Amino acid sequence: MRKAFPLTVSLIFLLHISLASSCQLVCYYTNWSQYRPEGSKFFPENVDPCLCTHLIYAFANMTNHELTTYEWNDVAMYERFNNLKNRNNNLKTILALGSWSFGTRRFTDMVATAQTRRTFVNSAIGFLRQHRFDGLDLDWEYPGSRDSPPEDKHRFTLLIKDLKEGFEQEAESSGQNRLLVIAAVAAGKPSIDAGYEIAEVSQYLDMICVMTYDFHGTWETVTGHNSPLYRSSIDRGVVIYFNVDFAVKYWRDNGAPAEKLMVGFPTYGRGFTLSTSETRLGAPVSGSAQAGPYTRAPGFLSYFELCPFLRTATTVIIQDQQAPYAFSDNQWFGYDNQQSFITKVQWLKDNSFGGAMVWTLDLDDYSGSHCGQGAYPLISTLKIHLNINDSGCST
Ligand SMILES: *[C@@H]1O[C@H](CO)[C@@H](O)[C@H](O)[C@H]1NC(C)=O
Ligand SMILES: *[C@@H]1O[C@H](CO)[C@@H](O)[C@H](O)[C@H]1NC(C)=O
Repeated sequence: MRKAFPLTVSLIFLLHISLASSCQLVCYYTNWSQYRPEGSKFFPENVDPCLCTHLIYAFANMTNHELTTYEWNDVAMYERFNNLKNRNNNLKTILALGSWSFGTRRFTDMVATAQTRRTFVNSAIGFLRQHRFDGLDLDWEYPGSRDSPPEDKHRFTLLIKDLKEGFEQEAESSGQNRLLVIAAVAAGKPSIDAGYEIAEVSQYLDMICVMTYDFHGTWETVTGHNSPLYRSSIDRGVVIYFNVDFAVKYWRDNGAPAEKLMVGFPTYGRGFTLSTSETRLGAPVSGSAQAGPYTRAPGFLSYFELCPFLRTATTVIIQDQQAPYAFSDNQWFGYDNQQSFITKVQWLKDNSFGGAMVWTLDLDDYSGSHCGQGAYPLISTLKIHLNINDSGCST
């Protein structure tokens, strides 16, 4: 009897550990960050293999309904990327197909018939196994929107079902672990409504990565936050839905299991050029903020580019939205920092969601040389606060 007490305590302790480490941390790698200017080029060797539970390589291509490479050097890059698994036994690597710029046309054609879907599923199995990936991430933006017809909503479900069944059969015959089926999905209510049979599709997907960012940006005429946790009191019309809290709960309340939902975390901010002396949320703008020296896209700054900007800017927390913005002269940025990530993780855990998805590894201060907060300050914050277990790491 006297020995039973410590045993119970340690069982409870173990149980606690396994519960505490059940969150996933899914991180995107982008094929184009290798072409950045000197000092910010990003390669697979820049990825910390112990940071995330899943790494996603963005993006592959599709030709004649078959999964293929995109870049001239993708095959060599896949190899270097998948070698990261040599340093973390638990790491899973995933290949993504799609993106905003990929458009919808080739997805629409591919899902159109059982035959074309089968061609795709078979090509995906061959391609993923050949290059040592552990699964596929579909980044169709979006079924049922942007020239994709309404019937694609149901056909997307059929595609996911075919992939899951095809992957199950292959696992049985090959004796290998089943390939994972993941999707990056819309966070805006109109796109969700047009695109997904939520309950059906959620049944087959292993993970549902909700892209809870790009809620506001330079396509608008007033300042707004890229990834607010909550709605703002100034929001009107459909904009009341454009926040993390609404989007992820909407997926859950319409039938997605909470543990499959990965909440999107951006390691970048979106910014505007102010057109008056007003600097508040909802202030008028004349267009995009200036491009950053490394990412070179107007209205967009990586976290490592934001750090120098923040040193001389005025920073404000939007209380309603639990999100920071900063301005300096006429430049205004809504962004995320360690504190806003901590607040979102607390909310994620309070709601028992499955984990976090990060867009992207290379936009964080991965080297630690720009922010003075160590390497990967934002993603490390997620790792710590999600209690990610890195026991598979040998480094
Ligand atoms: C990387 O992949 C994307 C497709 O997502 C493609 O548009 C692009 O050309 C590729 N390479 C570079 C350097 O951007
Ligand atoms: C991607 O696939 C399309 C469609 O087959 C093709 O036209 C394009 O050249 C491919 N892109 C690359 C970079 O291979």
